[in-house]
Amino acid sequence: MVREWDPRTASSAEIASLLETLNAVLATDLPRDPPWRDSSVREYLAEVMPGERRISWVAQAAPAAGGGTGAILGHVHVLLLGDIGVLEVLVHPSVRRSGLGRNLVLTAARRVYQEGFQSIGVEVVGDTPAVAFYESLGFSKEYVETRSVLDLAGVHWAELAGMATGIGAGYHLQFHPGGPPDELIEAYARAKAEVRDVEDGELRPSSYDPQRLRDSLDCLHRRGMRPYIVLALHEQTGEVAGLTEVVVPVQHPTRADQYDTIVAQDHRGYGIDRAIKARMLMELRSAEAELIEVQTWNAQSNEAMLKVNAELGYRPDREWREYSIDVGELVHRLDAGR
Ligand SMILES: CC(C)(COP(=O)(O)OP(=O)(O)OC[C@H]1O[C@@H](n2cnc3c(N)ncnc32)[C@H](O)[C@@H]1OP(=O)(O)O)[C@@H](O)C(=O)NCCC(=O)NCCS
Repeated sequence: MVREWDPRTASSAEIASLLETLNAVLATDLPRDPPWRDSSVREYLAEVMPGERRISWVAQAAPAAGGGTGAILGHVHVLLLGDIGVLEVLVHPSVRRSGLGRNLVLTAARRVYQEGFQSIGVEVVGDTPAVAFYESLGFSKEYVETRSVLDLAGVHWAELAGMATGIGAGYHLQFHPGGPPDELIEAYARAKAEVRDVEDGELRPSSYDPQRLRDSLDCLHRRGMRPYIVLALHEQTGEVAGLTEVVVPVQHPTRADQYDTIVAQDHRGYGIDRAIKARMLMELRSAEAELIEVQTWNAQSNEAMLKVNAELGYRPDREWREYSIDVGELVHRLDAGR
């Protein structure tokens, strides 16, 4: 049975069951990714930025004879932002290829259509069944990135310390666990607005104005995701010349996510990119005792960023693709196929 589902009011047993399904999916599709822990899963699913909405549905098995909660074997949610709905769907490996995934997508697509949104976007992990699934539904590929993973056990820390200090005169680095301090928020947002070397998918919105940046940091904290920032300050102007952001999710604190890394146009060529990323790894090593790996996403055309990441020890892991489709077309197509 597929029904609309609100993580804020769901029972703990339902949250636990969904987590079990997510971990079964990870073990099958991405066995080298860490399983998720039962920490702030409800908040991760429920919290959104101001002005955004996430609507969720679950596919739940009938309860066993003795009562209790029927297992949650499928889940779909759509995050409504701008004119696009960003979709995520999950089906337990034991019940795949029975049409449940298609049914969940249709349920979400109908709502996105009714709400007046234009298109649906989705992140698709390369080399998993999701690729054939979305292609069979008519989604088209918009953008391809490479996910790379750095194993901290292989890092040469003395070399890294050299990189962290190998920066041109006139700049100094600052480390800010939790986010940039309020007095730097405006300069920070300006740096993000000016230029962005995209390290994350287009579907993950980046924040360019100070209020949006504050909201986005708040939202991360509420979802159980700890942000860390290293920035390079240009001493003469007080401008933020470069910044790098890493988030450690409480749901999988052994593997951190690299978010944006930016070096402003006027400050390129001074080793800032390498230095801020090296400093970040050194800080994370002491701030996050459980951390084993960091993952990052890069456009395949971003040669400068790929070169720095390779120097730091990142190894390409797999493709990470973005697909999209016109909502009306999707609903029509799926309804016609029923
Ligand atoms: C992608 C996914 C949702 C598909 O769920 P599903 O219930 O098996 O999908 P359906 O049965 O509705 O399949 C619909 C169509 O998609 C295509 N498809 C789905 N899985 C496929 C596979 N493994 N190989 C080839 N085609 C496939 C087929 O055309 C299928 O139609 P058919 O069975 O009539 O041939 C499921 O595999 C899943 O949860 N994957 C993980 C998703 C994810 O986000 N992973 C990242 C986080 S871990």
